[in-house]
Amino acid sequence: NKGKYEHYMQKEIHEQPESLGTTRRGRLIRGGSCKAKSVMLGGIKDHLKTVRCSRRIVFIGCGTSYNAALAARPILEELSGPNLQEDTAVFVSQSGETADTLQALEYALENGALCVGITNTVGSAIARNTHCGVHINAGAEIGVASTKAYTSQIIVMAMLALAIADDTISKQPRREAIIDGLFDFPNKVRESLLVFGRGYNYATALEGALKVIEVALMHSEGILAGEMRHGPLAFVDGSLYLLLLLPLMMLASVGNPTTSRSQRSFDCDVFKRGCCICLSQWVVLQVDCLQPVINVIPLQLLAYHPTGLRGLNVDQPRNLAKSVTTQ
Ligand code: UD1
Ligand code: BG6
Repeated sequence: NKGKYEHYMQKEIHEQPESLGTTRRGRLIRGGSCKAKSVMLGGIKDHLKTVRCSRRIVFIGCGTSYNAALAARPILEELSGPNLQEDTAVFVSQSGETADTLQALEYALENGALCVGITNTVGSAIARNTHCGVHINAGAEIGVASTKAYTSQIIVMAMLALAIADDTISKQPRREAIIDGLFDFPNKVRESLLVFGRGYNYATALEGALKVIEVALMHSEGILAGEMRHGPLAFVDGSLYLLLLLPLMMLASVGNPTTSRSQRSFDCDVFKRGCCICLSQWVVLQVDCLQPVINVIPLQLLAYHPTGLRGLNVDQPRNLAKSVTTQ
């Protein structure tokens, strides 16, 4: 049921304050006078010791789920400690049925890795065949282009990082700051839906570009800002739309004589040559590692709106399936 919305994708973008609320529900522990704030993921609590001792933690996913794993990678790297034993493989999939991800699961099982699922679909192949896992509980996602599952996947992976790092005293203040950020979360998402937001990271650029390709059927690329001079700048002219995701610091540097010469000339080149829209941070979170969840929302809307104007089917874009179950 689309309710007051015209399309499922639009409904699912706007549902994110609620879906993120259900993703974290019952999983954050507020702590108290003698108890620290913490995360309790019922679906992996019995396997946490093995995950902590893993030689590597490998994340596997396709499309938007791959981008979600990229977005969560820095926080996992920051919080997780040294590794001792074999691999833990984490399978990220909204549907839990993607053929390529399932094939990787088969391989990981055969090779003795601990297999953890992160999926939205209870009873899916990934939920059934992994040793343990976490349901993201974002609610059914009907629009073919994934939106609310992406933000919930990032939150679950951040909670996974917190759960893995639960025994390191030195990281306690940082963990508590992230947990506070998670408590505050759905409100911030509401703010970002009201006003076109700001953003900056690479996974956000990749996921924003993927949304535009999927639903608006326009060519789009997510590019790491530092790579601009290594090729992509050659494409930039007045006919190209550029969407710059600028952290506040970089925005301040545009035309600012105190920034380095190379930084200024990069900015000027891009601004002079292309038709630019800047998204600079609007809703700035205290906790940087959660920022990608906010930053992607304006990009989801930016992909959604031109799709209708171009007369295209936003919920079932041509040549795309919600879940690719063949190889
Ligand atoms: C579970 C219940 C939830 C209940 C809560 C109460 C389910 C689906 N969830 O949530 O309704 O309110 O206990 O404590 O019944 N799993 C996998 N692979 C995956 C995903 C999950 O093996 O990809 C397994 C988990 O290891 C776990 C079970 O499925 O054994 C449920 O996972 P999850 O819903 O995340 O657990 P809880 O949040 O504890
Ligand atoms: C397909 C969908 O390519 O599969 C994408 O069109 C999705 O939207 C990708 O991100 C992965 O799906 P899942 O269900 O494994 O997350």
